Amino acid sequence: RKGAGVRHFLRDDDLSPEEQAQVLDLAEAMKKDRFGYRPFEGPRTVAVLFDKPSTRTRVSFTVGVAELGGQPLVMDLGTSQMGRGEPIEDTARVLSRQVAAIVWRTAGQERIEAMAAHSSVPVVNALTDEFHPCQILADLQTIREHKGSPRGLTLAYLGDGANNMAHSYLLGGATAGMHVRIGAPVGYLPDASVMERAAEIAAATGGSVTAVSDPEAAVAGAHVVATDTWVSMGQDGKDERIAAFASYQVTTALLGLADPDAIVLHCLPAYRGLEIAADVIDGPQSVVWDQAENRLHAQKALLHWLATRGAEGS
Ligand code: CP
Ligand code: NVA
Repeated sequence: RKGAGVRHFLRDDDLSPEEQAQVLDLAEAMKKDRFGYRPFEGPRTVAVLFDKPSTRTRVSFTVGVAELGGQPLVMDLGTSQMGRGEPIEDTARVLSRQVAAIVWRTAGQERIEAMAAHSSVPVVNALTDEFHPCQILADLQTIREHKGSPRGLTLAYLGDGANNMAHSYLLGGATAGMHVRIGAPVGYLPDASVMERAAEIAAATGGSVTAVSDPEAAVAGAHVVATDTWVSMGQDGKDERIAAFASYQVTTALLGLADPDAIVLHCLPAYRGLEIAADVIDGPQSVVWDQAENRLHAQKALLHWLATRGAEGS
């Protein structure tokens, strides 16, 4: 968000199309010269806070901050005073007097908005119930590596169309000029305000966004096929969800309807036999391990950008 002198990354559309491309160019350069960028030399500290479990996000931010010359301070809700009810606003004020940036995985988007509103250093969304924008930067880097520019490519996402990944594909994919198709059952379609915002972005970048309930129509001819767990962290009703999403599993038959050179993405952790068949995620079209590695490079680039060019441009 622009203004107030400091930039945050709370949603995918907090970066303009030009800025998203700058971050992705930087991610590519930083992947080639992994230890050559040291914006946090000194060292400066980055707080990395978790209210929910994590493997990839915890590892990639910890490793990434260290590689930028800084020191990661990883905290869990349960071991901080926030877990005992200290207000987010007070936590933001205390942390931002000492750290260079705050990275937070939490539940409601309003929580990270409150952190950003009271922080004088950049705040980065490491997943909320509504968005997972760092993941989409890594996914776009992966698409660039395997398919070239994402502009004009079709990305089909199957499964829970109302979760953080679906919403971030809509906003981040539209920002990158992609045609984003969500295939989800009625009752699990994307939030209308996110669809509206993504359509507005797509109108400016040459992309498009659609949501359909026919999984075959969603996947037809797609260059990128993505999915995610049917039961996100904090969600109830596992059996009901599994029943609702049964025909949205990414199988070899469904993938056969996509472009023959389509790549398969999954943010992980994956549940083989539910949202994705084992022979697809472990098969030749899957690029999920590159995607997981790119969390490191994309987030380092984002932190570097926020610490340097982001601040200059504000
Ligand atoms: N994809 C992702 O965010 O993984 P973690 O939950 O393990 O961090
Ligand atoms: N939608 C999933 C993503 C996990 C990285 C969740 O929120 O649990």
